[in-house]
Amino acid sequence: MNDFDPANATQSSAVVENSTTGSEEGGNSKRQKILPKTLESKSFAIKDFEGNKEDQEDYIANTMATYKKNLTDRSEHQLGYPFNLEYDYKDLNQLMPFSINNIGDPFIGGDCGNHSRPFEVGVLDWFAEFMKIEKNEYWGYITSCGTEGNFHGILTGRKMFPNGILYASKESHYSIAKAIDMFSMKWVQVETQVSGEIDYHDFKTKLLANKEFPAIVVANIGMVFVVGTTMKGAVDDIDFIIQILKEGGISQDRFYIHCDGALSGILLPFMECEKKVISFKKPIGSASISGHNFIGCPITCGVLITRKDYINFHSRNIEYIASQDATIMGSRNGHAPIFLWHALNREGCKLIQKQVEECLKNARYLKGCLCKAGISAMLNESSIIVVFERPKDEELIRKWQLASQGNVSHVVVMPHVSVAMLNTFLDELISKRLTWYKDEIPPCLEVDIGKENCTCALHKC
Ligand SMILES: Cc1ncc(COP(=O)(O)O)c(C=O)c1O
Repeated sequence: MNDFDPANATQSSAVVENSTTGSEEGGNSKRQKILPKTLESKSFAIKDFEGNKEDQEDYIANTMATYKKNLTDRSEHQLGYPFNLEYDYKDLNQLMPFSINNIGDPFIGGDCGNHSRPFEVGVLDWFAEFMKIEKNEYWGYITSCGTEGNFHGILTGRKMFPNGILYASKESHYSIAKAIDMFSMKWVQVETQVSGEIDYHDFKTKLLANKEFPAIVVANIGMVFVVGTTMKGAVDDIDFIIQILKEGGISQDRFYIHCDGALSGILLPFMECEKKVISFKKPIGSASISGHNFIGCPITCGVLITRKDYINFHSRNIEYIASQDATIMGSRNGHAPIFLWHALNREGCKLIQKQVEECLKNARYLKGCLCKAGISAMLNESSIIVVFERPKDEELIRKWQLASQGNVSHVVVMPHVSVAMLNTFLDELISKRLTWYKDEIPPCLEVDIGKENCTCALHKC
């Protein structure tokens, strides 16, 4: 494993480049190199101590200590990825010795007794209420991550409309492209605005253009929209999307909307942004929200909520587990629902509200400091993601784990990101930047974040 050379590795590129339909482009015909910068080549070897117990115990203890030290350091410098590290799950240490597997349907008892389904259903009921759907009208499960929830939602749309076209914005998370690839779907890539929000005009144009192809349109249309893009935290306006569908003559029985609400899905109801919140009072089919993102959970997980009727597209009776199989995965993590249940029970909405307000305040603080220092930066209205000029120093990017794409990097201001942490980062960035641009002009970021957010020589006022 140590010898793995990332430069020789390839990954599938599922991005449609001509912005029209076609799973061919999204398939494996085009492949691109993985960027080697984020891969670490270190490995902790499995060693044979030939019966020397003492050396073996020392080796294991030392490895754990080294790893713990590294994790502590990485957590203290976690700015770029959306996981909340501020939680206290000490109460749950007592459950760690147990194997817990929620295999099967959360609402149907199976033969395996080592499960946590009562916790899972409790959490699902909370999310169902959160997304405004009655208990007897929804189905869902705790997934292993946001991606799995997206897979489930998209697969439902696919099964409902086998010949449907999937519309997704070009700033959708890569899990959408992965689903398109896996389920061999036809799709249309929709342009985005500078903010990262879907370009509604482009969507309308492409929607209407596809009406010219009867084999596709007549055969039904399936659609997916994103609620909260990964890089800029932009949020699509579901109400407006529904309006465009209606104006385009796509009746409700001919579209399916899946909401990818990984991070923003949980924040929006606390930001008084009604028109963008995920609500099953609107004609949406499913929604996926991450569990480890804002709620915070040491085990990656997510929540998938869909309409109960749709589950017939998936369900199969499985005698071996004495349950039904309607999930993407088989065995499912039984600890994750208990963590979420614990977090939501301790302070629930009150704590989330407080944390959202604090994160918004700190995000605005960071954006303000960057602007004051002459660094191009953007912060969308309902977002805690600050996008700014990509640091020239890859070492700094790695140290602070800044997610970066093209000319920009971002900080996700999560509950563990304190003002003190931001100040330390800012001091370092600002002083290093003075050296990068001593004899050079900083780049123009008009295309990436808009001229109103750009501080290059041409745009700064
Ligand atoms: C918008 C969006 N969707 C989906 C995901 C996928 O989540 P996960 O990494 O938990 O699979 C992410 C992750 O950051 C995301 O930002």
